[in-house]
Amino acid sequence: MNTTADIDKKELVESDRNHMWHHLTPHKPLEVKDPLVIVKGKGLRVWDAKGKEHLDAVSGAVWTVNVGYGRESIADAVRDQLVEMCYFAGSAGNIPGIQFAERLVSKMPGMSRVYYSNSGSEANEKAYKIVRQIAAKNGGKKHKILYRDRDYHGTTITALSSSGQIERKAQYGPYTPGFVEVPHCCQYRCQYDDETDYGVKAAREIEKVILAEGPDTVGSIVLEPVTAGGGVIPPPEGYFETVQEICKQYGVLLHIDEVVCGLGRTGTWFGYQHYGVKPDIVTMAKGVASGYAAISCTVTTEEVFNQFKDSDDPMGYFRDISTFGGCAAGPAAALENMRIIEEENLLENVTRMGDYLLEKLRGLQNKYKVIGDVRGKGLFCGVELVMDRNTKEPAPESMLANIAADCMEQGVIIGRTNRSLDGLNNTICLSPALICTTEDLDEVVDAIDNAMSRHAMI
Ligand SMILES: Cc1ncc(COP(=O)(O)O)c(C=O)c1O
Repeated sequence: MNTTADIDKKELVESDRNHMWHHLTPHKPLEVKDPLVIVKGKGLRVWDAKGKEHLDAVSGAVWTVNVGYGRESIADAVRDQLVEMCYFAGSAGNIPGIQFAERLVSKMPGMSRVYYSNSGSEANEKAYKIVRQIAAKNGGKKHKILYRDRDYHGTTITALSSSGQIERKAQYGPYTPGFVEVPHCCQYRCQYDDETDYGVKAAREIEKVILAEGPDTVGSIVLEPVTAGGGVIPPPEGYFETVQEICKQYGVLLHIDEVVCGLGRTGTWFGYQHYGVKPDIVTMAKGVASGYAAISCTVTTEEVFNQFKDSDDPMGYFRDISTFGGCAAGPAAALENMRIIEEENLLENVTRMGDYLLEKLRGLQNKYKVIGDVRGKGLFCGVELVMDRNTKEPAPESMLANIAADCMEQGVIIGRTNRSLDGLNNTICLSPALICTTEDLDEVVDAIDNAMSRHAMI
């Protein structure tokens, strides 16, 4: 077996340049600039092929490696499981799959069934198929699915059909019919003359759309608990409570997309648990096994599940499969990931460190006029940059690119909204691993401070 040490790193970078197609990456610049190749990780740190150390403030760039890099106990759990029983289709159960399902729903009062697949997009697709099949069983009318204009629910054509980020969607249509957009709930970008009761007002916009479409045609709404790639937007006060009320009133299933917030990112197991809502469907992926294995879950109530038990209809059960949803490595990694979160009291660390990070970022806001808004929940923070605090004119994407590149030079990886929203890709995103310390966060904020002093003086 090749170990990292045996590989010639120069050749590796060259081979990457010649053969790899990187995700979300314009490749022309890589003809003159070396592609980033990550070869090692430990805790919050990663090392690239040139030997440079980086503090990763976004958990694998996309909010995934929640318990940090280099966890031998997760690798051991996966190895042991693969030797014992690697795979059998999800039409059968397996030991870690059953055990993780039971542990998972014990953290989610009201939820009871777990359906495994491999990515956030796929977990959401399963949820949409569940909604569509329930509609079909009831005459086909309640087939429409609502989504918000700043949320993202995945990369496949139908997951993108349910996503609102215009730049993410551009050039990939036509899209799947039956998905209807509703407005965001970003109070900093308030759509009304008056911000009073903003959360309730934003939720009532959803009701208007349900009424315009016809309540008998709307089957579900999918919402991120904290909008992630659309600008890190925690919901305003009263929002989710009102959404829940509206869903009940019009018989609309509430689907919460926890692909980023689950497990633990915001200081509770799931983001929705801050807001007292009772969803019908919850989807999750990235933090379920912290990236150590591919796994996603579509979790439902028993009430949703029961609708697929109709024994009179030979087509009435959920006729869906995901080949690798039967791979036992995913739940084996997920079980150990959950054990680590509990044993190391990481939810509590998230709350403490999240407060610390927000306070430090607010300190930066006092220093730089370019910071219009600082927001977040737990270890999930956004810093929105504007050219003028009164008009809130968004800072150009190039400024954020320069700040991120400068941080990278300093050895700190930060995130930013990136070709997501038209003219509004102006938020720095931070989501360090749940194990971070105040020293790690100081290092991150110092790097942003240095970068801003060079690229964001307005
Ligand atoms: C909220 C949300 N849902 C779904 C997805 C899609 O997940 P995946 O990339 O695993 O398909 C993402 C990915 O970033 C996401 O942020």
